[in-house]
Amino acid sequence: MFVKQYIKPILLILVPVLLIGWAQDVYELKIPKGFPKPQIPEQNELSNSRIELGRRLFFDKIMSRDTTISCASCHKPELAFTDGLKVGVGIRGQKVARNSPTLTNVVYSPYFLMDGGVPTLEQQIIVPVQEHKEFDFHFSLIAQRMQKDSIYVQLSKQAYNRPPDAFVITRAISAFERTLISGNSPYDKFTYQNQINALTASEKKGKDLFFSERLKCSECHSGFNFTDYSFQNNGLYVNYPDSGRMRLTNKEEDRALFKVPTLRNINLTGPYMHDGSFNTLEEIINHYEKGGNNNPQKSEKIGGFKLTNNERLNLIHFLESLTDSSFINRPDFIGQY
Ligand code: HEC
Ligand code: HEC
Repeated sequence: MFVKQYIKPILLILVPVLLIGWAQDVYELKIPKGFPKPQIPEQNELSNSRIELGRRLFFDKIMSRDTTISCASCHKPELAFTDGLKVGVGIRGQKVARNSPTLTNVVYSPYFLMDGGVPTLEQQIIVPVQEHKEFDFHFSLIAQRMQKDSIYVQLSKQAYNRPPDAFVITRAISAFERTLISGNSPYDKFTYQNQINALTASEKKGKDLFFSERLKCSECHSGFNFTDYSFQNNGLYVNYPDSGRMRLTNKEEDRALFKVPTLRNINLTGPYMHDGSFNTLEEIINHYEKGGNNNPQKSEKIGGFKLTNNERLNLIHFLESLTDSSFINRPDFIGQY
């Protein structure tokens, strides 16, 4: 009788205490209104210590052989995780083959790189680490450097219960990347947050053009993240020096196809296209207006159209309304490198 009487109050106190202790290292992804819930791999659930470890590594030059560059050298937060260059530049000033893409909303990507050859974020990290033109380095040597730093050793233990190694490095950086969610631009406020004044009249007109049957932009740049993740040729060249998805599949039908990129934060992420060949949004719109250059792979959706000067301006204003200033100013990005 006496015992029974006390079980309930004890449980009422004990259960929340246990839950809070457990919850301390649980990270709750903030998902913007209108966005689906992203899939997080079971073997790398998000936690505060994992994300913090990954964040530190992302900005740390110990990742590269000569300690001159980090992931953030090519993926700078203030440029929505691009670098403002035509193509990425690795250690010893070496140029890589392609333009550094934004990491905005990478958690939603079903595969990575412009040819789609890498299935997970964890595996993607192997590329810049080992690539001679990027970090030109080895996970075991990065781990050795981490061993000399007590914060890394402690975080590594807390996050994955093991000392720094390739397992820890690839998983922690991926956990951080999965938090790079951007969904609070004026466009989002207007579309998903019921703020009818978030877009100007010109931006609204540009939005209607973007989603129109006449321009067809949204037939590839579709959905909440402005991409259907398909591989397409948008008529950049007659002959492409870069064989695109064919590099992966070796199939002629995949020649010069590239993953449709997101357009979020597009005003911050120039130069544009896989090779950084366009500098401005206006040049891009001119390209689509003319219907691009003919080649056997060019999508039938790239057929050209005619815009008035006002319409062109409205479309540019709409693209600019996809900039999310709260994303690039996230406190955990500031002053990191
Ligand atoms: C030298 C510049 C450079 C460095 C350093 C670099 N990247 Fe990249 N990153 C690129 C380029 C260029 C691409 C596009 C490559 C391609 O698609 O073939 C890319 C692609 C990616 C992608 C794929 C994005 C997508 O949408 O498919 C991710 C994720 C990424 N990088 C993360 C990282 C991380 C994490 C690091 C550090 C471990 C890093 N990058 C270091 C230039 C760089
Ligand atoms: C057939 C599918 C398709 C259609 C339709 C399409 N695009 Fe694209 N878009 C792409 C692909 C693929 C790329 C990347 C090409 C590359 O890297 O060479 C791209 C690139 C872009 C870029 C540069 C992105 C970056 O980060 O470099 C912008 C901006 C853009 N498109 C805007 C538009 C607009 C505006 C329209 C409508 C007028 C449009 N697109 C129609 C497939 C399409």
